[in-house]
Amino acid sequence: MEIGVIGVGYVGLVTATCFAYLGFKVRCVDVDPDKIHNLQNGRIPIHEPGLEEILHKANKAGQVLFATDINELKNCKVIFLAVGTPPNPDGSSNLTFLTQAFDDLTNLLTQDTVIVVKSTVPVGTAKMLRERASGRDASNLLHIVSNPEFLREGNAVHDFLNPDRVVVGYESDLAKSIMKEVYAPFTSKDIPIVWTCNASAELIKYSANAYLAMRVAFINEVSDLCEQANADISEVTRGVGLDHRIGRHYLHPGPGFGGSCFPKDTLSLVHFANQRGVDAKIIKSIMPSNESRIKSLSEEMCRLFKEHGCKVIAFLGVTFKANTDDMRDSPTIPMIKALIDNGFEVMAYDPSKTEQFSQYFNIGLQNSAEEALHRADAAVIATEWSEFKLMPAELFASKLKRKILFDLRGVFSAEAFRAVGVKYRGIGRKIDA
Ligand code: UDX
Repeated sequence: MEIGVIGVGYVGLVTATCFAYLGFKVRCVDVDPDKIHNLQNGRIPIHEPGLEEILHKANKAGQVLFATDINELKNCKVIFLAVGTPPNPDGSSNLTFLTQAFDDLTNLLTQDTVIVVKSTVPVGTAKMLRERASGRDASNLLHIVSNPEFLREGNAVHDFLNPDRVVVGYESDLAKSIMKEVYAPFTSKDIPIVWTCNASAELIKYSANAYLAMRVAFINEVSDLCEQANADISEVTRGVGLDHRIGRHYLHPGPGFGGSCFPKDTLSLVHFANQRGVDAKIIKSIMPSNESRIKSLSEEMCRLFKEHGCKVIAFLGVTFKANTDDMRDSPTIPMIKALIDNGFEVMAYDPSKTEQFSQYFNIGLQNSAEEALHRADAAVIATEWSEFKLMPAELFASKLKRKILFDLRGVFSAEAFRAVGVKYRGIGRKIDA
């Protein structure tokens, strides 16, 4: 079976490459000729461990084709829509790219075709697309499926090939039979498939992401309580997470959540609730909780560094989490801005060497952690890269003139830093700096 994919961004490219890896012939279309040209030459625009290797194999085996002409998909019986659905200022999702791709597709259909909405879309989108196509010649050839992704950036290939579950929202038997064929490699591995209606599949995606975002916001608040109670967040999360009803994942405190999904999806769900007159108090509280954490940590950072006469701050980790080059909605952006606005010189470094940094700041990234520390008075650890975890406390003690470390990820142990005379401000533990 040939699979079509429209949109080769984070989700589309991982989806296309992994289906090719699983043995399907995949035809990918995108409106960006440069992106297509790079992919045809094996150059990928995203930092995803493992992706380049499997794309190279698929390209070599002629299993994946990249093009800008949507007519390349006209013989595909199943076509994944994986275009961007960026947030509008009011929190609603901008579906312009999706509807444009959908319209282009419906104009070329000549056979029963399953259109699979892989993009994250508001509840009711499949219904809206069906209504949009009604009256067109192709409407009786259209089978719209909702198949949300649950890929974490930096783990996307693993998450695609080893999902906890596959969610398929469908309406027709033909759609179900085609999707059974598409996901046959997963059912043979006993990976559960949730067969449901479109609206439920759409709501599963938003509910999962909003729940995970809420968990993170929740544990960040518990972390603040630990600091006041002279408790230790790592022991609290272990004690809480051992409850099988809770589990230990997504209970790690940090600077606040970011990324292109948690904020966008949480706001989109709030927008849907408001539109339908549902007073979703808990869901509405997630983003304000996250935003106030980022603000209060930024203010505390500035206060602490000012009190100790710091001028130059080494800021280690600028992406929204480790193992990615993505800075979208990263909590580091307002934090670095606050430091600069308060007169500090920021020496930022990130192991991903992300090119996105220059979109937000006109200061360059340092070439290494040591270079960032070289003239610094104090340092901030903002992401949990392994590279940072391996840095000895002695290095910070020797480099930092005012010997202060603000560890936003709890990467280090306070004791190791106290032992070398560095004031350590961790999170979720008694504050001694
Ligand atoms: C998320 C969902 O996990 C994924 O299923 C969905 O498809 C897309 O959105 P992603 O945004 O890539 O994936 O990142 P994730 O690893 O989930 O982390 C999201 C944010 O929460 C990051 O800022 C991360 O630092 C933060 N986080 C996560 C914590 O602060 N603590 C945790 O315990 C887990």
